[in-house]
Amino acid sequence: MRIALAALALCLAAPAALRAQDEVPFVVTPDSVTLAMLQLAQVGPQDFVLDLGSGDGRIVILAARRFGARGLGVEIVPELVERSRRNAAQAGVAERATFVEQDLFKTDLSPASVITMYLLQEVNLQLRPALLALQPGTRIVSHDWDLGDWRPDRSLTVDAPDKPVGRDKRSQLHLWVVPVRADGAWCGTGANHGARLRLVQKYQVFDATLAAGSTAQLLAGRIDGPRLRGAGGFEATVNGAQLRITQAGDAPAALFGAEFERCVG
Ligand SMILES: C[S@@+](CC[C@H](N)C(=O)[O-])C[C@H]1O[C@@H](n2cnc3c(N)ncnc32)[C@H](O)[C@@H]1O
Repeated sequence: MRIALAALALCLAAPAALRAQDEVPFVVTPDSVTLAMLQLAQVGPQDFVLDLGSGDGRIVILAARRFGARGLGVEIVPELVERSRRNAAQAGVAERATFVEQDLFKTDLSPASVITMYLLQEVNLQLRPALLALQPGTRIVSHDWDLGDWRPDRSLTVDAPDKPVGRDKRSQLHLWVVPVRADGAWCGTGANHGARLRLVQKYQVFDATLAAGSTAQLLAGRIDGPRLRGAGGFEATVNGAQLRITQAGDAPAALFGAEFERCVG
């Protein structure tokens, strides 16, 4: 019975999901906006840029040509994939800018250090869980559409006189840096055995209580990739199941360098 209900739920959900994917039309990002997107993400030669719904390939090609990055464009329309490959060859970057005919929802996002998107709001929202699960520090840039209540780390408006859609000929660009998952309880190790850090996280914003000895301190701040930065100069880095205080700030100076591991309570 339970399996039958689950199957029915999937059947009912499928048409909505399919429509959202199929309804993203091919509209180019103007060249000046493409450049601004890559600059916002600070793309460089060490980056792997993944453009989800890559159209004629312009974002990945510019990332390779201008910034020396490698990249992959994922596009569902075969003619656009062919056109992208021709464009990459003409630009002399066919080895570093590659294209695949593929559904972006069936794409492994994990090799990317930068993800670019010019899709639609509902598609962005469907992608959000997969984006949040990426390696901390991965940058995501979206043209015009945001990610709902996962607020961007930075947004800007750029003039887009060549924009083929819209009346005001301007584009909104949004940047997110994937935050490390730090919420929960952390227990001090070694000399700091007994110290406790309890952290509540919403996307890249956190509130925390740091208790050590007879002192307890409230901390609030932001998460930038693997780093936590709190008001009062507190800083910590999360690496897998370990957290290390790299600046005590207003917390007791003895906690500088203190290491914590995940624990219960
Ligand atoms: C608005 S265009 C953006 C093109 C390019 N990224 C740019 O900024 O110039 C969106 C592209 O996504 C493609 N697309 C739509 N649904 C897709 C899907 N499920 N998987 C892969 N590509 C898709 C469309 O064919 C279209 O080329």
